[in-house]
Order: sequence, then structure tokens, then C-alpha cells
Amino acid sequence: MAADGPNRIIHADNLAVLPTLPEGGFTLIYLDPPFNTGRAQARQATRHVRQSAKDDSEPEASGTITGFAGRRYERIRGDLLRYDDRFDDYWAFLEPRLVEAWRLLADDGTLYLHLDYREAHYAKVLLDALFGRECFLNELIWAYDYGAKSKRRWPTKHDTILVYVKNPDAYWFDSTAVDREPYMAPGLVTPEKAELGKLPTDVWWHTIVSPTGREKTGYPTQKPEGILRRIVQASTREGDWVLDFFAGSGTTGAVAATLGRRFVLVDEHPDAIAVMQARFAEVAGVEFETGPAGPAASEGQAAQESPAGGEAAAIALSDRRRSR
Ligand SMILES: C[S@@+](CC[C@H](N)C(=O)[O-])C[C@H]1O[C@@H](n2cnc3c(N)ncnc32)[C@H](O)[C@@H]1O
Repeated sequence: MAADGPNRIIHADNLAVLPTLPEGGFTLIYLDPPFNTGRAQARQATRHVRQSAKDDSEPEASGTITGFAGRRYERIRGDLLRYDDRFDDYWAFLEPRLVEAWRLLADDGTLYLHLDYREAHYAKVLLDALFGRECFLNELIWAYDYGAKSKRRWPTKHDTILVYVKNPDAYWFDSTAVDREPYMAPGLVTPEKAELGKLPTDVWWHTIVSPTGREKTGYPTQKPEGILRRIVQASTREGDWVLDFFAGSGTTGAVAATLGRRFVLVDEHPDAIAVMQARFAEVAGVEFETGPAGPAASEGQAAQESPAGGEAAAIALSDRRRSR
């Protein structure tokens, strides 16, 4: 990928594409993975236990692996994920892709992982172990109010976006670049402040994509441009590269293009590619490609999707990171 190359939209399984992208090439990676991947994984038999920082200098006990931050990567899956088989499958799908995402992030880069309430808590614990707790920046809550409401419990009307930075001492975050929002009680602040609006907090009230609005592409899981706008504004500069390898309708790329950022989008579903072809028809400098496929890619994917494959990649990367 040339530094000044075209924006790319790649039709492929992301796991086959990610190793072909340049290490450290992206300032922002936004991921909105499907919850139900439909791919059952082999169950994880080993149990890995977090080691203390002191243990980092000691030889690895068998059955433990090491996280990116140079700490023991606790394989708590055996315990934690036993509570929810579906999450076990989900994590086995996601882990090797997150390992790749970490490799692709620039030193000042940020990862936004968009989850729903069923996934968020398990994922937070595992991500702290995988990336290092000091790399955790925020838990964003996107609250909306649409659709049917349960009468048997509090209606669930929010998503969670976990935010991790590659390097807590070097990450890019520009709050002055973010669109401000109206004060809830403008009478309590000066007219100048009310006019300026307030900086969004970590709770974002935002409507879903309106079924009749300008943004609607017809893609069922499309996210609102307003959510992506804040993310791109805060965590990138003009000209930076943005990656979304669960691209769907291409919201991340659409926002990146509007804000003068460059992008790579990947999706394996033909419907997503068709929607993006329509969405980017008028955007200059966008190339559509078909990514690696065929038996070789599928075998590689199978190897990496197995828990052992993901762990091997995690160990290799963590060793590299420790030696920096
Ligand atoms: C929740 S949607 C993303 C929606 C997107 N944020 C938007 O605003 O339109 C998840 C997408 O991930 C894609 N996907 C799932 N598994 C994939 C894989 N292994 N490789 C590439 N794309 C994948 C699906 O086809 C789907 O379009």
C-alpha cells in the first residue's frame, strides 16, 4: 500500500487480507464485527492464568502465553468463557483478527471496537489481558431510543465501543477537532459557552440511521455517520489512513473521505460490496479489489482461526513488542 495510494475496498475474508497490509500503517482502526459469526470453533481446553508483573522475567510456565504489552496473557478463556459458549466461538473468531489489528496500528494509533451489551464485558477483560490495561483509553456508550421496548426488564438501547491505544505515551487525540453538542441546560452556562456547545463525553446520545433518511443505504447493520465522525475527527489527522475490516455499508470510509482521510475497507459479503459500490460511486480515488482467496487462503485462515493459531500469533507479536 503506497503512502499516497488510492482508497481501497477489498472483497475478501479479512483474515486473508490483513497480513498483506503494512505494519503500523493505520492511525485508526474501527471494527464493528458481527456477533453471530456462525462459525463454531474448537473448544479451548487449556487454562491460562495471569501472571504478576514480577513473573514477566521468569520463564513461561507451560499453558501460559504472553500478551502484547509484554505481560503474561492470561488464558482465562477456560474460566471466563465457560459461562457463554457463544462468546467462546466469537472470541476464537475475533482474536486472530485483533492480533492483526494491533500489528497494523501506527504507534500513535487507536482501535475502536464496537460491541453490544452481550459481548462488551467479556471482551473488555480479554482485551485488557491481550493489549495491556494501560492501553485502554475509554468505554464509549452509544445510547439510542428506537424500536420495541421490553416490559420485563430495562429495555437495552445502547452499544459499547471499547477504545484502546497502541502507545499510551504517543497516541493522537484532538478533542478540539470534534463536533460539539448542545448543552442540556444552556441556561446554566454563559451565552458564549452555550453558543460554542459542549465537548461530547463518553456517553453519546445519537439516533440510529433513520429508515427514511439521507444516510440510509439499505444495509441492515449500518451505523450512523455521526458516530464515526466523532471517532475519525478525534483520533486522526487529515491524510491519515483509516482501516475498517468489517466494513458493511462502508460508513467508516464515507466519513473518512468527507474529512480528508484515506481508507482501506474490507468485507466478505457481496451485498456489502454492492452497497459500497453505490455509496462510493461519486467519490474520487476509490479502487475496488478482490482480495486473496482460494485454497491457500482458506487453509491459512483455518489455521489462524483455531485457538492455537491465534495464540501463536499473539506470542510472536508480544515477543516483538517486548524487544522494542
Ligand atoms: C455489523 S456489520 C458492519 C456494519 C458497518 N459498521 C456499517 O456501518 O455498515 C459487520 C460486517 O462484517 C462483515 N464480515 C463478517 N465476517 C467477515 C470476515 N471474516 N471478513 C470480512 N468481512 C466480514 C459482514 O459481511 C458485515 O458486513
